Amino acid sequence: MAKAKSVFFCQQCGYESAKWLGKCPSCSAWNTFAEEIVTKEDTSKSEWRQSASRQKIVEAKTLKEIESSAEKRILSGDQELDRVLGSGIVPGSLVLIGGEPGIGKSTLMLQVGLMLKKQKVLYVSGEESEQQIKMRAERIGLDSEQFFILTETNTKSIFLVIESLAPDIVVVDSIQTLFSPLMESAAGSVGQVRQCAAELMKFAKETNTPVFLIGHITKDGLIAGPKVLEHMVDTVLQFEGDQHLAYRILRTTKNRFGSTAEIGIYEMLGNGLREVSNPSEILITQKDSSLSGVAIGATLEGNRPLLIEIQALVSPASYGTPQRTPTGFDQKRLNMLLAVLEKRCGFRMGTQDVFLNMAGGLKIEDPAIDLAICIAIISSMEEISISDKICFAAEVGLGGELRAVNRVEQRISEAEKLGFKEIYISKFNTKAFDSSKFKIAVKPFGKLVDVFQDLFG
Ligand code: TYD
Ligand code: MG
Repeated sequence: MAKAKSVFFCQQCGYESAKWLGKCPSCSAWNTFAEEIVTKEDTSKSEWRQSASRQKIVEAKTLKEIESSAEKRILSGDQELDRVLGSGIVPGSLVLIGGEPGIGKSTLMLQVGLMLKKQKVLYVSGEESEQQIKMRAERIGLDSEQFFILTETNTKSIFLVIESLAPDIVVVDSIQTLFSPLMESAAGSVGQVRQCAAELMKFAKETNTPVFLIGHITKDGLIAGPKVLEHMVDTVLQFEGDQHLAYRILRTTKNRFGSTAEIGIYEMLGNGLREVSNPSEILITQKDSSLSGVAIGATLEGNRPLLIEIQALVSPASYGTPQRTPTGFDQKRLNMLLAVLEKRCGFRMGTQDVFLNMAGGLKIEDPAIDLAICIAIISSMEEISISDKICFAAEVGLGGELRAVNRVEQRISEAEKLGFKEIYISKFNTKAFDSSKFKIAVKPFGKLVDVFQDLFG
């Protein structure tokens, strides 16, 4: 006999409470509690293979007894996605892909599903009709005998199909459209999202089938409903980009099976997403004459070296407090670099507005771009342009000293590969390698002022 129970969930963070609360004790948001009815049914009928698993005898195991699954990753054929996931799809993993509407989440998963010709893929869509998906697949120009489409939102029906089809990979588009008959609240509510994800997780872990969940994000950029979801899944991917630009970036904010530093770059074309395997080409603008305020930094995104163009605009502040506006870079770090320029190098930054922009909408946290940022700022302030054959890779310390950066050789060889003639690095980096093996001129310096001296005279 079904027993109805009502609980209150914070719609922002998923905190559960037996009574209504004005302020959420977990995330401190006001007025976010909503009542949801949970029906405690006889779960054996509705939940994924509940009855079978209940009878299984469970035993604890030693590490030795557990089979390693490291080498069994499934390669999706999409090199960007594979790298971001940490060299392929892990069997039994639950992956959440978030992103703004229209960014290309459905396109990406459809494309990946159609490329996986060896695996049986089930694409569950609660958002689009079969015809719409077919039209999209035709647009991408891919087809696969092993790709199955199901337009259904009830998890009970979905699991029935899954049981008879036995897919190797399941894609759910989107988790917010699913509903589980175990809960009475509407699809998309925190309780439902959590319940459906839990059922899918159980399925993924028990059958060792990877499951991809597409999730909507709220206007604050969080995956809708659920911080809870992020805790549950193995990997959280964010698909980002500017609606008006063609480039899309896939990044991980959580990954149980790999590094979260890797990014994948795509270009949205008329016929689907193209992998961008050499991102430095798009991050450095082609221009006829050199502009002031532009410097190129050799950074690393995950394991991949990347040369990125940094633009700075420095202009006298007309009113009171000068503005410091970085895009794609930490504001506090920018303030720190400006203080170093003022105190250690004698530039009067206090009366200047400073705007900073990373090309391609990237967010950079690598401290090795400090030097390039300082150079771009001074180049703009002094109206002196820097040759586009020069790049920079060094961290700037509080004393105005240049500090060593990690994997400097990799940065230098990438710069050389892209045709740069000179790279400025910290002198403390030179001990680790032999610079004579490079064709590019490696210029080691100990202090920021000395670099200015060398560049601007
Ligand atoms: P979509 O995958 O539907 O986004 P999401 O699932 O994240 O909401 O992407 C839709 C956008 O991509 C839409 O604006 C049209 C564009 N698009 C292309 O430019 N080329 C293509 O080949 C496809 C399929 C879509
Ligand atoms: Mg979609």
